[in-house]
This record gives sequence, structure tokens and C-alpha cells, in this order.
Amino acid sequence: MEGGITLTVGVMFLTYALVVSANFYDEANIHQVTEEGHQSRLNRKFIGENIAMFGNKIHEEKFQMFMKEYGKEYSSKEEYVHRLGIFAKNVIRAAEHQALDPTAVHGITPFSDLSEEEFEMKFLGLKSSSSIGDSSSNDMMGLSETTAPELDVKDLPENFDWGEKGAVTEVKKQGLCGACWAFSTTGAVEGANFLATGKLISLSEQQLLDCDHKCDRKDKDCDNGCGGGLMTNAYKYLLEAGGLEEEKVYPYVGKKGECKFNPEKIAARIVNFTTISLDENQIAANLVRRGPLAVGLNAVFMQTYIGGVSCPLICSKRRVNHGVLLVGYGAKGFSILRLGNRPYWIIKNSWGKNWGEKGYYKLCRGQAVCGMNSMVSAVATATS
Ligand SMILES: *[C@@H]1O[C@H](CO)[C@@H](O)[C@H](O)[C@H]1NC(C)=O
Repeated sequence: MEGGITLTVGVMFLTYALVVSANFYDEANIHQVTEEGHQSRLNRKFIGENIAMFGNKIHEEKFQMFMKEYGKEYSSKEEYVHRLGIFAKNVIRAAEHQALDPTAVHGITPFSDLSEEEFEMKFLGLKSSSSIGDSSSNDMMGLSETTAPELDVKDLPENFDWGEKGAVTEVKKQGLCGACWAFSTTGAVEGANFLATGKLISLSEQQLLDCDHKCDRKDKDCDNGCGGGLMTNAYKYLLEAGGLEEEKVYPYVGKKGECKFNPEKIAARIVNFTTISLDENQIAANLVRRGPLAVGLNAVFMQTYIGGVSCPLICSKRRVNHGVLLVGYGAKGFSILRLGNRPYWIIKNSWGKNWGEKGYYKLCRGQAVCGMNSMVSAVATATS
């Protein structure tokens, strides 16, 4: 079995993944919840064949199938060849991720023709992790970040999902724009507004893109439209500006433009915000008590993620580069390996419903995986 396999991946992991893959993919495809059947079909074919592809060059046919499935077009022959090369690398990367993250399913995604760097630049956009744990730093306006007080964690429900309670809007799509921070922020404010008023209103990321230039410190890590930002900076902007307009009033265009914010059109007013401690039980308690939370994490495994509970063996906690929305948790994640069930977080992403589990990511809970505990914040809005 190990005949052609002399890749950079540790042979142990790989063998592990291959042994497992032989019997879990059928099952995975039955259970996998994807809106588009084509995605699982593409990956079923991919997964079945990827072992054979290791020693060889990737089939161009596979790439063309990918192009068709995701409506990809390239402007020139050079671009096509360039993308084909990246795609081939990403197929190998997906297999590596599969080996490192056996409880999730990794494969071909809408992002398989982007290099890791392009992906980070265009689809992530969390400015920096320099503010992590630095809750005492006051900015120029004297708005300090408060850390949430300890909450009781004894009576937390075993499973919890704000999505089922009507506090979460439809999955949105940031497009070719590093504005994750804005989507994470609106998600938290939408949830807080639902808790305060009982109404779920989709709120404007574009307002944040166009109008929020808040800085973490003087001249450092400023919110910068598609160039990235921080959720805590966005809250500070919102405290000063007064609040957020509705999505339909100030719609998303995916690039920074002139600020068209009109205070008379505010749909949700921010009252305060707090950062939350590293403790994942405290994170759960704050989630249940205060609504969906803005979270930063390392998104490296998300480029190839298709479904299941992601629980990578190695994922740097320091490279927090993507802002998302924590909406719930489950006690028992579907375990492909049957190594027992894993508790997991339910995370809303902003890459459309075509990605992941209908736009959502499941990340295992309790081990600070991918630094998901390091940049968590809650916001409160006015009741009217
Ligand atoms: C934030 O505002 C909410 C709602 O008005 C209030 O209940 C809470 O105590 C405030 N928290 C802080 C840290 O000021």
C-alpha cells in the first residue's frame, strides 16, 4: 500500500488517513449535508481517485470538472495553466489536511484554484492578533475594552444553537474582499439586536467598509475595508457613529467606497461591548447568555473544508487571521472514525452557502483549536 507514497506528509498520518478513507467516505457522503449535490459528487470522485493521483500528475480532466462545477473562467491560456498548477497543489494540500484532520472531510472547494496566500488576502481579512489579551489598551477616544465578568457555567444546556432560535441571519458572502471582520461584527450585532428587541434584522457590512477607519492603536491596525480590520475596532466605531443601518438600506457591494452613512437610518444601536476570556466554558456561557459572539481563528483548514467536525492535530493558535460568528455548540459531533463523539462549536462563516456545511463550520471544542478562544467578543444593543 505504501508503494507510491513518498510525500512530504508523515507516512504514519497518511497511512492512517488512507486506511480510514477506504471505509468512511461512502458513509460521509450519505451524512454530509450539502445544499449542492454536485459538491459531494465532485468530491466523491476526487476522494476515490486522489490516492491514485499521488504518484502521478494531476489529471487536467479533474480541473475542468472543477471549473464547470463552480463556473470558473480564466482570461488566458497562461492563467489557465497557472490555475491548474495551483489546483494540483491544493488537491495534495486537501489530502494533507485530511490526514491531519481526520474527523472532518477535506477536498475540492470553491477555493481550490487559489494559492494559500491569495486565499488569505482575498477571503480572510482579520487585521492582526496584536490586540489579543491587550484589553487594557485605551484608544485615542478613551474607549476601553472591558473583559466580561465570570459567568456560572453549571447549568449550561448540552446542545445550543442560536440559529434554531431565530437570532442568526442567512449566510452571507464576502466575495473577493477581506471583510470578514465586518461580517463577524454585523453577525454579533444582529444577534444582540434580536435578543434586545425580538427582531432579526440583517445589518450593513458596507457601512463598516466605507465608514469605519478605527485603529487598534495610533496608526496601527486600522479597519480598512477589504484590506482587513478588527471586530473590536468596529464596535468602537459603532459606539461613536451611533449604530448600523440595515443591509437592504446600505447594501453590500464588496469594495470600499464613499461613506454614505445616515444617522437617521440607524437600525441597531450599540450600547457596549466586552471581550471574553480564553476559557471555552466561559465562552459557552457568554454565548448562551448574550447571543452569538464575534470570534477570530486561524482559517488554514477552512480552504479545503467540506464538512464534519474539524479537529486538526496541528493548527497554530497564533495565526488568527479570520473573523467569524460563533452561534452554538453541540455535545456530540458526527464522528467518522467512531472514536467517540466530539463536542464542537457551530460557526457561521461569510463565504456563501456553497462552502462547508451550508456555509457553516464545525470546529471541535475544548482544546482552543486554531486559536478560536483568543479573540472572542460580545456586544449589546439598545432595546429600541
Ligand atoms: C452592556 O449593556 C447591557 C444592556 O444595556 C447591560 O445589561 C450590561 O450590563 C452592559 N455591560 C457592560 C459591561 O457595561
